Amino acid sequence: MRAFPVVVVVMVMTLAAPTVAAQKVELSIDASKPGAKIDRNIFGQFAEHLGHGIYEGIWVGPDSKIPNTRGIRNDVVGALKAIKVPNIRWPGGCFADEYHWRKSIGPQRTVTLNPNWGGVTEANTFGTHEFMDFVDQIGADAYVSVNVGSGTPQEASEWLEYMTTNQPTTLEKERVANGHPAPYKVALLGIGNESWDCGGNMTPDYYVSQMKIYSRFVRNFNPAQQDKQQMLKIAVGPGGDGPRWTDWTETVMKAYQQHTWSWDINGLSMHNYTVGHWPPSYASVGFGETEYSQILKFTLETDGLITRHSAIMDKYDPEKKVALFVDEWGGWYAPLPGSNPGFLVQQNSLRDAILAALNLNIFARHADRVRGANIAQMINVLQAMIITDKEKMVLTPTYYVFKMYVPFQDATFVPVTFDAGWYTHGDAALPRVDAIAAKDANGKFWLEITNVDPHQGAEVELNVIGMNAKSASGETLTAPKVDSVNTFEVPNAVVPKPISARAQGGKLILQLEPKSVTVVSVEQ
Ligand code: AHR
Repeated sequence: MRAFPVVVVVMVMTLAAPTVAAQKVELSIDASKPGAKIDRNIFGQFAEHLGHGIYEGIWVGPDSKIPNTRGIRNDVVGALKAIKVPNIRWPGGCFADEYHWRKSIGPQRTVTLNPNWGGVTEANTFGTHEFMDFVDQIGADAYVSVNVGSGTPQEASEWLEYMTTNQPTTLEKERVANGHPAPYKVALLGIGNESWDCGGNMTPDYYVSQMKIYSRFVRNFNPAQQDKQQMLKIAVGPGGDGPRWTDWTETVMKAYQQHTWSWDINGLSMHNYTVGHWPPSYASVGFGETEYSQILKFTLETDGLITRHSAIMDKYDPEKKVALFVDEWGGWYAPLPGSNPGFLVQQNSLRDAILAALNLNIFARHADRVRGANIAQMINVLQAMIITDKEKMVLTPTYYVFKMYVPFQDATFVPVTFDAGWYTHGDAALPRVDAIAAKDANGKFWLEITNVDPHQGAEVELNVIGMNAKSASGETLTAPKVDSVNTFEVPNAVVPKPISARAQGGKLILQLEPKSVTVVSVEQ
């Protein structure tokens, strides 16, 4: 009974919170200065054999009551098709350096262990054929990471021969016998994963000697991938800031500069999680403004990290032939209470949607060098697009950001200028708004604006230089609280809603909600 008046006071305060006037932001897009192409591969996904990322999240088996096509969930495939996933990185992660492909092909699968992630058994029922079927159903490219840590160049080169040759070798015949006569396409090849740590704790020099061997011998034989659509080889790159990581980038890029005809790399990977502190301790739900502003402050450090490693790459590769692939990124928080800590289960809130938008914008601004990125991880693990529980599936706020950003895939970056102003909370001072613009293949302009401020809306006055913009329309994503989430019970708490603007006095005025992500196309 005593708590009652307190509850009433809190409710009244919440309802009566003063409306803060929208901040005016003048924003102009200069259509006459197109930049680099925003490679669709920056919208890539990552699916590791970890927790329920693969088993239950993708694979339920052909005998499951959950509607599936050859064992792969139809609801998940439908949702991923809608966000036009460009590529999926698989089978890990740390798992990749303990993965032996032969154990998961053919009618008899070997049951192994997954010591990295919960020490559970690995049924190996989802292997090469199932993964390729999955990417095929979605319309994505395969990004396969080979085992450098506990495998051999021979094992990896035989895997590629098994997958890609159309010549009548014994391995090709085995693939045909296992149900796939046509050679598979492997668009991207990861040469190990975090070889500086879970991938074998190698020094940069040791890794470089391995990288050269794998680059030389792990060949793609698919006839369709010889001249065009060649497989890109991605080397292990840095995992953070500071001398350990700049030294790693220096060593790999210096080797690249001196490379001979016999080996090559096309990309350098970077792993960059927004954690705050190790071990991950920030809550993924049930947090307030302090945790919101802190996590976003940490995530904005990604820009400096990319700038510093890009500068090293520029030194050895001024023509930017080697792409930077941020092939693991996202928020990594404390495991949800009651979950297996090895399964990396967390909720996904409006904060994650904003985090995703800020990172995608950073990648787009570095589009000349960042030509690939894979959010970790696609389903049920870390900053997921999709959460499942048996037959149930829910789409996360992050999923909707990826959906809203589809028009930016392969669009041309166009500079946008604005005075963001500042949102401050505690020791966090963040640009209040963030924005990117791009022109798609049909000549249409797209604008993304993130309003980071959780209290104040933004009145955006949009001027498109060189264009008589008459209207803008698209979608905006927000929710009542920074930690609002979609659940199986309430799946539509954080979903995009339509937004539009008309010209007033030669300018377009867009009214943005606090803590929101907005994507509009501009019509003339
Ligand atoms: O995504 C989870 C893990 O994070 C990956 O397996 C590893 O590469 C990274 O440390």
